Amino acid sequence: MKEISKSVRKKDHASKMSGGAKYVADWSADGALYGRLVRSPYARARVLDIHLPEMPEGCFAVDRRDVSGENRVHIVMDDTPVYAGETVEYIGDPVLMVVGHDEKETARLAKAVKVDYEELPAILNIRDYETVFFDYNYGKGDAQKAFAEADKVYEEEFQTGYQEQAYLETQGMIAQYRDGKMTVHGSMQCPYYVHGAIAKALGFTPDKVRVMQDTTGGGFGGKEAYPSILACQTAVAAYKAGGKPVRVIYDRREDMEFTSKRHPSLCTYKVAVKDGKVIAMDIDILFNSGGFTTLSAVVLQRGIIAASGVYNIPNLNVRGRAVKTNTVPTGAYRGFGAPQTFFAVETVMNHIAKDLGVEPLEFKKNHMAKQGDATSTSGKYHFPVPLPDMIEEVEKASGYYAKREEYRKPQTGRYRRGIGISLWFHGAGFTGSGERDFIKAVVKLHKFADGKVEVLVSQTDIGQGIKTTLSKIVANELNVPLDKVFCENPDTDHVPDSGPTVASRSLMTVGELLRRAAIKLRGQWVDGEEQMVEEHFKEPDFIIPFYIEKFRGDAYPTYAWAVAAVELKVDTLTGVHEVVGAWGSFDVGTSIDLNIVVGQMEGGFLQGLGYSSMEQMDTDAKGRIRNNSYSDYIIPTSVDVPNLQVIMHEEEYPDGPYGAKGAGELPLVGVPAAYISAMEQALNGVNLYHAPFSTEDTMKALREVL
Ligand code: MOS
Repeated sequence: MKEISKSVRKKDHASKMSGGAKYVADWSADGALYGRLVRSPYARARVLDIHLPEMPEGCFAVDRRDVSGENRVHIVMDDTPVYAGETVEYIGDPVLMVVGHDEKETARLAKAVKVDYEELPAILNIRDYETVFFDYNYGKGDAQKAFAEADKVYEEEFQTGYQEQAYLETQGMIAQYRDGKMTVHGSMQCPYYVHGAIAKALGFTPDKVRVMQDTTGGGFGGKEAYPSILACQTAVAAYKAGGKPVRVIYDRREDMEFTSKRHPSLCTYKVAVKDGKVIAMDIDILFNSGGFTTLSAVVLQRGIIAASGVYNIPNLNVRGRAVKTNTVPTGAYRGFGAPQTFFAVETVMNHIAKDLGVEPLEFKKNHMAKQGDATSTSGKYHFPVPLPDMIEEVEKASGYYAKREEYRKPQTGRYRRGIGISLWFHGAGFTGSGERDFIKAVVKLHKFADGKVEVLVSQTDIGQGIKTTLSKIVANELNVPLDKVFCENPDTDHVPDSGPTVASRSLMTVGELLRRAAIKLRGQWVDGEEQMVEEHFKEPDFIIPFYIEKFRGDAYPTYAWAVAAVELKVDTLTGVHEVVGAWGSFDVGTSIDLNIVVGQMEGGFLQGLGYSSMEQMDTDAKGRIRNNSYSDYIIPTSVDVPNLQVIMHEEEYPDGPYGAKGAGELPLVGVPAAYISAMEQALNGVNLYHAPFSTEDTMKALREVL
């Protein structure tokens, strides 16, 4: 193991273990006001009038008329209003905020607000869409010709559901306006996203806005864009509050019903096979965006780029659309569009293999991309593709081939078994040319006279350990003890914009910039002096430039790879499935801290298993999220999967720090395909087309196959 991979005590260990770490809800409420949002009860309606109850002294309400800048939250397309405009577009769309001294009183006042609506027809189902937010198309080769020449054409439709991030801490923000400056702090992934959004909503110059991250209890993508919305709403209230802080902290029910979750999807795959090989794919992808666009453009981009999986498909046509429904806006969740398409492509490959009478893993091996091959977007796999070795590692750990053979035989009795395997990648870093064209990351190192060094970046530690891993890189390069390097929760008045904490980019991209900054500082180091160095992002030379209009070029500089097998035992009496074993080999390049990386792999793998089975969320007939508590949205815990084994495979990436690549999102992405494949085997080899596959789904399927 490399020296840098050796695990250390996490930088935030002591503050979290002692309870000293300050989360947004830990701030004293003395002298603060409470904010409570009043939300639409209709999926779509015109807002006619607002009637406030009698407001006690010092209590007030804010709505769109109080927005001093633009009534739009800056995310990507800026269509999300801070407070609802003339219409509401989903159940939960915030119309106004009531602000008061006491939490209960504020809740009572919010309930007493009467809003007159004129209900309008709403679109609730993805299949009924009328508005297309984003429509992308790309391809390569000649798909039409290939389909004409095919021996056989397969067409299948796949569906995936919502997934709730289920972070440990709910969304929360506190805002205060003093001396001409708006200060906002709270739970978030991306302080500069929040900063930009507030400046636009208030109409303030950037220097009049300050955003600070509080210690954050998990994000998983759920705190990528949503905090910008809540921060704008809270800041508008604080602007009116006469200098008092306004705090808005969601309870779990509000958080689960009204904040973003993973896009449900509907994917149609047409696949042309000739002489036992896939020669073309024609893919149509629909993502359900909900009422506003938020991050859908970029989520969809990542999804469609991954649509042909780890395979070298010479003729490809991909269309992707993100469509509007009058439901809660969906957004980022670990994997960011890729889990949906990987489920579809891996499952269609399994089904074709079965139809051809070929063992699915063998079939997949015959199509896998290798170093030097073209990617889906006619970029290049510049670095080794370690899948063959990783498959062997997982085969060795799981006994996949023998079990697959064994469970293929007709099974009788109450319990049935199945095993499945899936292969996937995750594009490391931000999609396309985003890093070069939009983020333009800047990092700084501040050396104090006493020799201590502060890491100045906008990266947030959301439990993934970035304070520790970034500090390790800097300490290593400066050759100083780790306790001489530190990293605080980011404050936009104090740190440069090194970009958002998203897309598995923080360690690979920002970490590498810090490594270079540390080398620079080492070269200039003068004992006893205060010094500052700075480093800016530059795209690596080998990159084939990416053009988003054409979806052409290197969508990612490199890829993290994964292979996972899942073995299930299904109870035919109750429909309950038990994960007998789950084995994954993960290549994220060099692990900067083995404990941290293995923890990330285990956690993501487990979320993937939940996404495959028990994490079922949907809307009722009116379009309202039905699952708003952890008693009816179940997430797996270590009790559900005691036999989860993670193998680290290291294929170094020369442009990442010490060979590290993106890690955070990878372990979740391809899990459902392995799970569903195991389920298919346990259910007498039936073909399945959707995830999650719940106990109820199993009962229904059992009625048909037994
Ligand atoms: Mo992420 S799912 O790019 O916050």
